[in-house]
Amino acid sequence: MEPRPPFLFILLALLLSSTVTISSSLSHNSTSPSPPQISPTKSPSPSAPSPTPTKPSFSPPAPKPSTSPSAPSTLDPKQLLALQSLNIPTVKDPCIQPSLHNTTLCDNGKPFRHLLSLRLVNCSDDVEMSITALKSLSTLQDLEFLNCPIQPVHFPAELIASLRSFSCINSLRKLTGVFLGRLKNLTDLTVSQVTVNASGPIVIFGNLKKLRSVTISNANLTGYLPKRWHLNYTHIDLSGNRLKGRVPSSLTLLGDLEFLNLSSNTLSGELPTSLGDLLSLTNVSFASNSLSGPIPDSMSEIPGLVHLDLSSNQFNGTIPKFISEMKQLKYLNLENNNFQGIMPFNGSFIKRLVVFKVGGNSNLCYNHTIISSKLKLGIAPCDKDGFPVSPPPARSSDSYDSSSSGDDDESSDGSSKSKDDHRHGPSKIVLGVAIGLSSIIFLIVFLVLLSKRCG
Ligand SMILES: *[C@@H]1O[C@H](CO)[C@@H](O)[C@H](O)[C@H]1NC(C)=O
Ligand SMILES: *[C@@H]1O[C@H](CO)[C@@H](O)[C@H](O)[C@H]1NC(C)=O
Ligand SMILES: *[C@@H]1O[C@H](CO)[C@@H](O)[C@H](O)[C@H]1NC(C)=O
Ligand SMILES: *[C@@H]1O[C@H](CO)[C@@H](O)[C@H](O)[C@H]1NC(C)=O
Ligand SMILES: *[C@@H]1O[C@H](CO)[C@@H](O)[C@H](O)[C@H]1NC(C)=O
Ligand SMILES: *[C@@H]1O[C@H](CO)[C@@H](O)[C@H](O)[C@H]1NC(C)=O
Ligand SMILES: *[C@@H]1O[C@H](CO)[C@@H](O)[C@H](O)[C@H]1NC(C)=O
Ligand SMILES: *[C@@H]1O[C@H](CO)[C@@H](O)[C@H](O)[C@H]1NC(C)=O
Ligand SMILES: *[C@@H]1O[C@H](CO)[C@@H](O)[C@H](O)[C@H]1NC(C)=O
Ligand SMILES: *[C@@H]1O[C@H](CO)[C@@H](O)[C@H](O)[C@H]1NC(C)=O
Ligand SMILES: *[C@@H]1O[C@H](CO)[C@@H](O)[C@H](O)[C@H]1NC(C)=O
Ligand SMILES: *[C@@H]1O[C@H](CO)[C@@H](O)[C@H](O)[C@H]1NC(C)=O
Repeated sequence: MEPRPPFLFILLALLLSSTVTISSSLSHNSTSPSPPQISPTKSPSPSAPSPTPTKPSFSPPAPKPSTSPSAPSTLDPKQLLALQSLNIPTVKDPCIQPSLHNTTLCDNGKPFRHLLSLRLVNCSDDVEMSITALKSLSTLQDLEFLNCPIQPVHFPAELIASLRSFSCINSLRKLTGVFLGRLKNLTDLTVSQVTVNASGPIVIFGNLKKLRSVTISNANLTGYLPKRWHLNYTHIDLSGNRLKGRVPSSLTLLGDLEFLNLSSNTLSGELPTSLGDLLSLTNVSFASNSLSGPIPDSMSEIPGLVHLDLSSNQFNGTIPKFISEMKQLKYLNLENNNFQGIMPFNGSFIKRLVVFKVGGNSNLCYNHTIISSKLKLGIAPCDKDGFPVSPPPARSSDSYDSSSSGDDDESSDGSSKSKDDHRHGPSKIVLGVAIGLSSIIFLIVFLVLLSKRCG
């Protein structure tokens, strides 16, 4: 039987190549991320942006028949020209709602309507805002920049008088406290992912007397928190800066404050004992600072606290029992501090929360008659005197619950209750390798059997 060997080799080659492609495509899919998406490129600007941004560059473009004569735009022609100078498409009447990406919002003025709100998103960095254009936009109450790395501009006084809300996220390259401190009529200020060069937050907080909501985050803002505040704030987010010093007790006079985020700064000292005067507070974070001392007792007075984050500081003392009586609480993070003694929570409290973290407190322990060790809390059980029985286990270590029934119930993992994203990658590699290997073994067995029959 001479024709058999070539036939066998072809069969072998076919099988081998197919298993290789199966396993390689599987492992490729699971290990390497999809190729980066190429975002639509903006019109390139070969010429470097002019270093004199204040120089008026607003040249009226040739009056294009951008608006059909049958439906003339209702927007003030001067503002229409200004929008065109900012590369904002004006083919459609910008006052017709809803505008694309909420770029524009107009009033109902006659004979012309005027802009109330303008939102610039993903602009190309060669867009130049001229003083002339900004002057003609001085009906704006709301101005937003998102991902617009254009040159910062001096705002004309007319625009400053009209603005109530200003937002600058990853835009305008760099801002100063003096620039922001001039925007005196603002009630809402959002600055994020832009450097703010200021001698301290007081330059902004001391000047903007009508502010109610302020976010200056990830801005490398330096200095100390203000000692004086006007009392109308509802929202303060100064997270991700370089603020230092203590949290002033004057902050606790802000009875309308609902949201306070001072995380990721270098604040130190103890929290003001009057913190509980913030009766409207729902969400508060002092995470990732160098704060110390106890959780103030007065916090038991705050009725609607939903989110409390004190993680990664040097807070100490015992965890107060009143926290377990906060009915609205959904998020509690006390990890990486120096809390000590018996943790005052039971399993039903912990299960009610969306996030509960207490790990990284080496002198904190839990009462094992109240809490199952299956809730991997990252702290040790207490002995009869209320001290940790052993050095606390490494957080989320699998060997920790070896004493439990062996039922590895991941859903009761209390140390991090946010949903685990199940990674399918490794199992796909294993599957591919298994298919490949078993095919090869099958082939070998097949060949051996065949050769035995022939021999
Ligand atoms: C490969 O990955 C893509 C996108 O991540 C997914 O849609 C597809 O189902 C995956 N294919 C396999 C065989 O897992
Ligand atoms: C536009 O504004 C409306 C109302 O303010 C809002 O519901 C909607 O989500 C916004 N759309 C976009 C794309 O921002
Ligand atoms: C801006 O760009 C981001 C990412 O490049 C994209 O997800 C988003 O939809 C864009 N927004 C607008 C309004 O063009
Ligand atoms: C704030 O607005 C009022 C009227 O709305 C105006 O009279 C005043 O000049 C504005 N303030 C500044 C600093 O522009
Ligand atoms: C803040 O400073 C750090 C370190 O100097 C720098 O890497 C980061 O880009 C700065 N962030 C902003 C928004 O300026
Ligand atoms: C911040 O402003 C001060 C004076 O206004 C200046 O001396 C300093 O160089 C500025 N810092 C940065 C990083 O631009
Ligand atoms: C604070 O709010 C009250 C009532 O909402 C208002 O009467 C008062 O003028 C506000 N004060 C400031 C400084 O905006
Ligand atoms: C505070 O800000 C940080 C980063 O800016 C953010 O991760 C965190 O979720 C915020 N906390 C609250 C309570 O909003
Ligand atoms: C307040 O905290 C809760 C729980 O973590 C969260 O769902 C909510 O979005 C937060 N609110 C704000 C304004 O960040
Ligand atoms: C907490 O730390 C401070 C120093 O930061 C110390 O004076 C105080 O005694 C400590 N309290 C407890 C209960 O350990
Ligand atoms: C758990 O503690 C809460 C108060 O934090 C209490 O109301 C509840 O009765 C306790 N549950 C059990 C089973 O002990
Ligand atoms: C643990 O809880 C049980 C039941 O409430 C109690 O009898 C015991 O004293 C507690 N253990 C410690 C160390 O507090």
